[in-house]
Amino acid sequence: MHEPVLLEEVLVGLAVKPGGHYIDGTLGGGGHARAILEQAGPKGRLLGIDRDPHALALAQARLADLPNATLARGNFSEMKTLAQQHGLGGVDGVLLDIGVSSMQLDTPERGFSFQADAPLDMRMDPDIPRSAADWANQISESDLADVLWRFGEERASRRIARFIVEARQRAPIRTTSELAELVVRAKGGQRGRIHPATQTFQALRVAVNNELGALEEGIESALSLLKSGGRLAVISFHSLEDRIVKQRMAAHVGRRESLEAGGERWIVSPPRVKWIVKTPAMAGETEMKRNPRARSARLRVVERID
Ligand SMILES: C[S@@+](CC[C@H](N)C(=O)[O-])C[C@H]1O[C@@H](n2cnc3c(N)ncnc32)[C@H](O)[C@@H]1O
Repeated sequence: MHEPVLLEEVLVGLAVKPGGHYIDGTLGGGGHARAILEQAGPKGRLLGIDRDPHALALAQARLADLPNATLARGNFSEMKTLAQQHGLGGVDGVLLDIGVSSMQLDTPERGFSFQADAPLDMRMDPDIPRSAADWANQISESDLADVLWRFGEERASRRIARFIVEARQRAPIRTTSELAELVVRAKGGQRGRIHPATQTFQALRVAVNNELGALEEGIESALSLLKSGGRLAVISFHSLEDRIVKQRMAAHVGRRESLEAGGERWIVSPPRVKWIVKTPAMAGETEMKRNPRARSARLRVVERID
């Protein structure tokens, strides 16, 4: 079962209150959702969204005793429509805990991990048309290099793209092991502790699931759903995501600049949010030891003020 990261920090960051209405846009195993609902009490309400039907089924079982949880399959980028469909207007808090869950990573046939040999899939929503194998076999060498560079920050992106294109001319790439072995060869073997295919797998996953596009839209949707005083908490797991979270949130924070002629003016006007957690909160030693996933987790929180 997926262990929720930064749980205490999320509950404090969202300032969960009895009777409050919340949206968990990344329900996963329902760990955060359960804790939010328990704190919101019998009059509270939570809409839990996930694009993965397997995650929804698991969360449904985990939250079965909580009648005030409503679960919906969908992309959190469409949170506004989903909230309307389920009769939620302004809400007191939204949580996005992005990325993959332990269940997704640990189910070999989902194809997210190079630790097990399985079809190269990586779709969080199994109904989206292109799997990671489709991406690896169909896009041009330069687009592939671009994806590896932009979404994986992979320095050997061109070399890996060339190896992939040469290999697929002989036979299509079908499995996680085939891709991992190709990357290891392209990078000249494994040197450090981190597997050489880590960034390639991250890049393909981000591309397949349009993770960064969904994140940008999700933040905007969430902010538009918050009541005044409502809070948005986002947990990210790598620098690309955290940069987007920081920039999208900062774009709505009020800031003043001094004028040469004296006085000040708002740069962002009118400000829609204020920072609650600007410097990202990170897990403490104990949590990191207990849950290695927590090592790279970063939490930022803003509050709607208009
Ligand atoms: C890190 S897990 C969330 C774990 C959850 N907070 C818990 O306590 O169990 C991320 C989940 O978000 C889902 N997800 C990722 N991107 C999504 C998106 N754009 N829309 C909806 N769900 C998404 C994934 O399918 C996965 O189940």
